[in-house]
Amino acid sequence: THQYCLAVLPGEGIGLEVVEAALKILQQVARLKGFSVEVNYGLIGEPALETCGNFFPEETAQLCERSDGILFGAVSRGGLLELRKRFDLFVNLRPIRTFDSLLVKSPLKTERLKGVDILFVRELTSGIYFGASGRAENAKGTYGYHTMRYYDWEIRRIARVALEKAKSRRGLLTVAHKENALPHLPWSRLVKEEAEHFPGVVVEPMLVDNLAMQLVINPQYFDVILAGNLFGDILSDIGGAIVGSIGLLGSASLNANGFGMYEAIHGTAPDIAGKGIANPLGTLAGVILMLQQWSEQESAQILIQAQENLLAKGYRTADLALQGKEILVNTEELVELFINELLIL
Ligand code: IPM
Ligand code: MN
Repeated sequence: THQYCLAVLPGEGIGLEVVEAALKILQQVARLKGFSVEVNYGLIGEPALETCGNFFPEETAQLCERSDGILFGAVSRGGLLELRKRFDLFVNLRPIRTFDSLLVKSPLKTERLKGVDILFVRELTSGIYFGASGRAENAKGTYGYHTMRYYDWEIRRIARVALEKAKSRRGLLTVAHKENALPHLPWSRLVKEEAEHFPGVVVEPMLVDNLAMQLVINPQYFDVILAGNLFGDILSDIGGAIVGSIGLLGSASLNANGFGMYEAIHGTAPDIAGKGIANPLGTLAGVILMLQQWSEQESAQILIQAQENLLAKGYRTADLALQGKEILVNTEELVELFINELLIL
């Protein structure tokens, strides 16, 4: 039986609660499917700063290095960008799929939401997050700056990942760009050049402002959406509105070797932290992506099924406002229900 070694970095806020919850479910599926997951905890973010004087201590980095993957909770500031950079996690996958039982939770019209299945491929280790930056002063005054810079090869390598994904799906790759204002970042041309090696994939460049509007108007249209670091960050939050809660979404951040970090898309949610009411399904979506990456397809599949069943039966955490006969549950109750669901599948 396969034995995996997992680095777990809970971070702060609800990160601690949702990671514990998702781990319980992961251990259950491991027992059922006959593999094992050895868990080792590491510090990141605020607790790391307190204990080690550093948001992302070297000890944590080495723990991750020895592991088959990283399960990440949430941090409010510091640690996350360093972690992405350290392991060259340039591929960020953020799948958005609507659940039939949650369509009414979205502010968008139900008939526009059925069957939405979008994969965001976001570049994660370059662009404006990592370009030259600072605060300075000249004759006109004090100013701040962040530089959006991309090497052509950085755009090409993430383009190839997105093209590969599109090829295995519906074959439509929409590319977010802003070439009317930022002509020196020629995403359209570079992606089209890479696409010559992917016959059958249609590349459709779209100005990012228009893309944001189209995502709200007609989400069913999209298949794979490729975006740089900042545009991808902003666009993927629209995904939260589409599925009804950002608390449901997960992401995988991978490097060229397929090593990765898995997490929810949401943050530390300080307003509900410590109350035991956070939705663990976002982190669980991260776990599902991890299992797929580890080629544990059957396990990923039963988690997806159990999650659908649970939602269809009406169980809801507080982030999904109640309607009619739905049943409000806290994090622990949801985990217990989830595990029971796995046992009867
Ligand atoms: C995300 C977050 C991060 C990002 C923040 C916390 C730096 O919003 O993962 O989407 O912008 O990448
Ligand atoms: Mn974000």
